[in-house]
Amino acid sequence: MPSESEPATTQRAKVLNASTHKMAIAWPTNFKRAWEEIWVPEIEQIPKGICITGMGGSAIGGDLCKTILGPVLSLPLETVKGYELPAWVGDGWLVIAISYSGNTEETLQTFSMAGERGCSRLVITTGGELARVAEDDGVSVVRVPGGYQPRAALPFLLAPLLKILSIWCEDVGEPEVERVCEELAKELAEGAFSSTKQLARELQGNSVVIYGWEQFEAVAYRWQTQLNENAKVMVFHQCLPEANHNDIVGWESAPENMVVVLLRSHLEPRQVRRRFKLTWELVWQPRAKKVLEVEAKGDARLGQVLWLLTFGDLVSLHLADMQGVEAEPVEVIESLKTALSQQGE
Ligand code: F6R
Repeated sequence: MPSESEPATTQRAKVLNASTHKMAIAWPTNFKRAWEEIWVPEIEQIPKGICITGMGGSAIGGDLCKTILGPVLSLPLETVKGYELPAWVGDGWLVIAISYSGNTEETLQTFSMAGERGCSRLVITTGGELARVAEDDGVSVVRVPGGYQPRAALPFLLAPLLKILSIWCEDVGEPEVERVCEELAKELAEGAFSSTKQLARELQGNSVVIYGWEQFEAVAYRWQTQLNENAKVMVFHQCLPEANHNDIVGWESAPENMVVVLLRSHLEPRQVRRRFKLTWELVWQPRAKKVLEVEAKGDARLGQVLWLLTFGDLVSLHLADMQGVEAEPVEVIESLKTALSQQGE
């Protein structure tokens, strides 16, 4: 039931955003289902390294795999968001091209470049041109469910990717996925994420910077992009320790309405914890309007990442409601893609 005190725009947005909200709540269910049900090929030859290529909501899965598997993956893992593969990605490498629509220009180019260089290739998509060219070249296509915005389909894109890569890691496999998803679903059902609305309220109308530990950069970036795309607000992200060497100087002339959100993890090393504490005391506390902290729950990386992703998605959707905007459409991205496809130069 809409609350009497809510503005009409919020009430209207809530109705429009109800299905996107449901999708965010279904994160653990969809992730587990995707892990169990989406077909992935067996990789017979161990590659020299893996290069994941894609853009936006399709690319973030690659970055998140680096976060989740980074310390335990026994192969080099590179992510490419753009038109060019690094020169050293060639024969013996596995290139995984991910595009939800299958029609993203940059991803089509890197996929074709990987073919010219003699790389092994694999595609994750719902269809489109990427599926067509892959099938023409005899490349395996992992098909994911269609009908969503790419960023909302992250559980369907991340699960098969992680499953493919998990054969080179001992710690992440079916039992861990089941355990983590069950815990997350339980927390969602018990209302553990109810503070997401309060956090959205604190962000509304302010300038926001998300800070995270460098090993969790992909998570801070996903928070940024979900706030950008769902709530249609300008947000930035930074990481520690790197931000201690540049960003903090900019605080000397920061606007008055800066809100800092710290994404924290008990997995951070001692030096990073110290940096968060001292940066808080020296920079954020004296200069920011507010400093807010979100501590990831879970004992290991997979659980913490999924927990923080769910939390961030919900914050972005509550903020969309409060802003009175429809979360799902991203008209400017679509218009730009159309304009690019029409103009020669
Ligand atoms: C839209 C979104 C975008 C797209 C990106 C690439 O929800 O998140 O960032 O993911 O424009 O398109 P696809 O994913 O179709 O390759």
